[in-house]
Amino acid sequence: MSLLDKIDKTRVPRHVAIIMDGNGRWAKSQGRERIFGHSHGVESVRASLKAATKSGVEYLTLYAFSTENWNRPKEEVDALMNLLVQTIVGELDELDENQIRLHAIGDINNLPTECQVELQRAMDHTSKHNRVNLILALNYSARWEITHAVKQIIEEGTSPDEVTDELFSSKLTTARFPDPELLMRTSGEERISNFLLWQIAYAELYFTQTLWPDFREEDFFAGIVDFQSRERRFGKTSEQIAQESNNDITSDAEAI
Ligand code: IPE
Ligand code: IPE
Ligand code: MG
Repeated sequence: MSLLDKIDKTRVPRHVAIIMDGNGRWAKSQGRERIFGHSHGVESVRASLKAATKSGVEYLTLYAFSTENWNRPKEEVDALMNLLVQTIVGELDELDENQIRLHAIGDINNLPTECQVELQRAMDHTSKHNRVNLILALNYSARWEITHAVKQIIEEGTSPDEVTDELFSSKLTTARFPDPELLMRTSGEERISNFLLWQIAYAELYFTQTLWPDFREEDFFAGIVDFQSRERRFGKTSEQIAQESNNDITSDAEAI
């Protein structure tokens, strides 16, 4: 039996974000170079996309390269950028067939030119799709994104009382997307590593020991099943939440 059958389709998170981690350790466990792990991670990206499609997740954000990752050895950075280009080019038909729309967030203008060109081509090519939105976080850091938004707000001459949660959200690279309700991280690390700090204010966090190259559809479903076992209270009490769901059931019954 698949864990997909355990998912309540009426309470699936609209947006899932994943910190894909553990490629280096996976490669080491096979006695191989780190890039071997990164290459194998592409299969896990495919699996996550399939799982998102099957479970009804509308937005899937994947942390693929952080601003801090430039500090890795040059050969690893170069290999990651090549892999990115190859993957975008190689998977384009697959994205098209599955009606997946590609987006990118982060400091895209400072990626190597070839990456920018292929990324833009793939985004344009898939812009008519809307089944699942795949958002790649590339050269991304939440602090970069937040300072960038602050600069923009100041440059536009915004007055202090115009600065609201909504205005601020609209200046972030994620302005077009709802906030993630679920953030997963693989490989057993339990930290955020400068990812979506503003947007995950109320996200549920799910950590799994699975290393990213081993991550498959069932692992994704497991995260959603776990998410559905949580009580999301948004500052209220459990009693209030129970009352609200009773009210929902009653008004649903009245509607019928
Ligand atoms: C995640 O795997 C991929 C990227 C950060 C690009 P890592 O390369 O961080 O793998 P570990 O953490 O060293 O095992
Ligand atoms: C976070 O993973 C960045 C990505 C997944 C792209 P890292 O492996 O770089 O994070 P730290 O450095 O261990 O926190
Ligand atoms: Mg890591």
